[in-house]
Amino acid sequence: MKMIVAIIQPSRLDDVKEELYKVDVNLITVSEVLGHGRQKGVTEVYRGAKEMGNLLRKVRIDIAVNDNFVETAVKAIVKGAKTGETGDGKIFILALDQCIRIRTEERGGIAIG
Ligand SMILES: Nc1ncnc2c1ncn2[C@@H]1O[C@H](COP(=O)(O)OP(=O)(O)OP(=O)(O)O)[C@@H](O)[C@H]1O
Ligand SMILES: [Mg+2]
Repeated sequence: MKMIVAIIQPSRLDDVKEELYKVDVNLITVSEVLGHGRQKGVTEVYRGAKEMGNLLRKVRIDIAVNDNFVETAVKAIVKGAKTGETGDGKIFILALDQCIRIRTEERGGIAIG
């Protein structure tokens, strides 16, 4: 199991969700976050208002998937988020030890989705 963490432009969220739904990835967590990449927020201001100093509003998407869904999910995120401009975002893939569906107490791959 893996946890996919994607930081994207807020304006790309609807497209990313649409691409994920197309490939049957339907369980996601979305948060509003602040961040900057290697341009330190400087060249990106035109894409969205500065929120705090040089930190810019971004959207974070967390998706827990079974291993065989990682590439599918990554491709969908890239398809929805990529414009080719700086600040398009980044995807991190983390090892995920366990997942537990609280209602049924199922664990592991079956609990993920
Ligand atoms: N190494 C990192 N660690 C933590 N967060 C990061 C890292 N790289 C990027 N981020 C987060 O992802 C967001 C988008 O990053 P961004 O796309 O600007 O990456 P970049 O490396 O600067 O690439 P680019 O040159 O395409 O802009 C940042 O605002 C930040 O919130
Ligand atoms: Mg950047």
